[in-house]
Amino acid sequence: MTRFVEFTGGDVEAFLQSQENKDLLRFITCGSVDDGKSTLIGRLLYESKMLFEDQLSALEADSKKLGTQGGNLDFALLVDGLAAEREQGITIDVAYRAFTTSRRKFIVADTPGHEQYTRNMATGASTADLAIILIDARRGVLTQTRRHTFICTLLGISQLVVAVNKMDLVGYSRETFEKIESDYRSFAKGLGAENVTVIPVSALAGDNMIERSANMPWYRGATLMAHLETVPVGSTAVDGPFRMPVQWVSRPDQNFRGFAGTIASGRVKKGDALKVLPSARQSIVERIVTFDGDLEEAFAEQAVTITLKDEIDVSRGDVLCAGAAPVEVSDQFEAQVLWMGDSEMLPGRPYIIKSATKSVSGTLDKIKFKVNVNTLEHVAAKTLALNEIGTCVLELDTPLAFAPYRQNKALGSFIIIDRFTNNTVGMGLITFALRRAANIHWQATDVNKVSRAHLLKQQPAVLWFTGLSGAGKSTIANLVEKKLHAEGRLTYLLDGDNVRHGLNRDLGFTDADRVENIRRVAEVAKLMADAGLIVLVSFISPFKAERLMARERIGADFAEIFVDTSLAEAERRDVKGLYAKARRGDIKNFTGISSPYEAPEKPELRIDTGLHKPEEAADAIIAFLRAKEDLTTP
Ligand code: ADX
Repeated sequence: MTRFVEFTGGDVEAFLQSQENKDLLRFITCGSVDDGKSTLIGRLLYESKMLFEDQLSALEADSKKLGTQGGNLDFALLVDGLAAEREQGITIDVAYRAFTTSRRKFIVADTPGHEQYTRNMATGASTADLAIILIDARRGVLTQTRRHTFICTLLGISQLVVAVNKMDLVGYSRETFEKIESDYRSFAKGLGAENVTVIPVSALAGDNMIERSANMPWYRGATLMAHLETVPVGSTAVDGPFRMPVQWVSRPDQNFRGFAGTIASGRVKKGDALKVLPSARQSIVERIVTFDGDLEEAFAEQAVTITLKDEIDVSRGDVLCAGAAPVEVSDQFEAQVLWMGDSEMLPGRPYIIKSATKSVSGTLDKIKFKVNVNTLEHVAAKTLALNEIGTCVLELDTPLAFAPYRQNKALGSFIIIDRFTNNTVGMGLITFALRRAANIHWQATDVNKVSRAHLLKQQPAVLWFTGLSGAGKSTIANLVEKKLHAEGRLTYLLDGDNVRHGLNRDLGFTDADRVENIRRVAEVAKLMADAGLIVLVSFISPFKAERLMARERIGADFAEIFVDTSLAEAERRDVKGLYAKARRGDIKNFTGISSPYEAPEKPELRIDTGLHKPEEAADAIIAFLRAKEDLTTP
């Protein structure tokens, strides 16, 4: 029988340190609460005496009150209760729990298991050596089982354990078990998963959890705990070259400047030569400082503060590397992306990309394919929906120091954050860098925007008109252009309907196509402003994110003009008869009716067309432009 080592509470990491000599298995459980996941974790913790006394008595009381197990201990309550405790508004909800037996130390990443919480599962999986995939014996292999297995292999988890749970509810049927085992193995084989162990258990009744079950004498393999205790684990993190992403720059006073972080791989000694990426500056390690005093040497997974001999510029998000083996730097990658957002991923839309300790703005473009997780087929795709996995090109605005995921999990993975909601909407793995950053350089020209504008005797500008179809954008923009032209200004009006006849004639009105429509016209407007022109852009441009992208691309020349007409009024006018068609269902994705319009919150100018005639609106815009020129002309 397994003997357990008591953990009496307090600091989990410190406890584990004291158990230093035993090796450590990090694992994750995949499955939903319905599959019995909470019960399984609860039982492992209970059997290993990991529970605190007060939690135990609370559990006994709760089990009597609320439990589904007729007064017996309901382990699911335990884990769910702890889950409720940690719901503190963090985006990714993973609790790491430690326990230990006489053979081994364990850290289990416990993640809420509903289908929409794939994100939590994936986060837990990124640090695990082994995954327990739960299958309800009554339900067999489900799409979710396949998705979790796919994600685990994608993340490089080498050991898969399938716990076919609730065997008691299928009469401990050998036939049922063997059918599930063979279904699962044939799927896992397609993924190239090598180490797959399938165990029939009942987490609730305790069969094959710790003790061998007398109810399933036909099963000759190890119990779940015996397997967890003996499965080979090898951490490769310490073997690799030294890498530490800087979490923060510690500067308590004038005399001390240290770079704090957790070592992602390798080891570092005092006197080692380091290189800081992306800047490629070099220095020598002076001290390795920890809470418990200085170290001569530190290893992967330790949290340390490093000071350097030279005063070089290092900031949060930079990566300290072994001088002789620095990481790569790039701004364009091939990446595998798991989408976790409720609304679909839109190629070309800027998101915040956070890798290790660095956050940058970037877009996901060119989805090469998505994967059907049931058949593992590659399918053509324009977007990724919730829980879909695809291979895309990741483009960043700023170069990133990185390592491919296969080499370094911390420096090769990233999460994707929505810029408006701050929600984590996806995660990805860097497969490799694409050439762009290294081989394409910005070419400086002698004649530039300033000289062109000087020749034209005008201040370039981009007046960006946004509003519903039929709001009056084109009418007003046309009037403004006429007036400017009459004053001898050089202008160009980019109108949505017109640009869609040429440059953008391959685009329709799906969200993804509108993102691309705006991306292209923003680039064109930027080039025209660079040519010295006053550019008028008249596009519905319904999404905040893309208008923000245009604003950021174009910079100070940009001004957003919201042509504010209510839907009712635009529909009443219906100059082109499109609203009538949209209402009849003859046009899909029509803005305001079957596709959203996100009104600007802080436009430079808002024109209420209910109050002002187009002529007045045009005069107001010209006046605005004058004031802007006066402000910016020296
Ligand atoms: S945007 O949303 O991508 O910015 P854009 O300004 O280029 O739209 O094109 C809008 C014009 O296309 C409308 O003025 C209308 O004439 C026409 N149109 C055709 N179908 C649609 C649709 N489904 N939604 C909106 N406009 C449409």
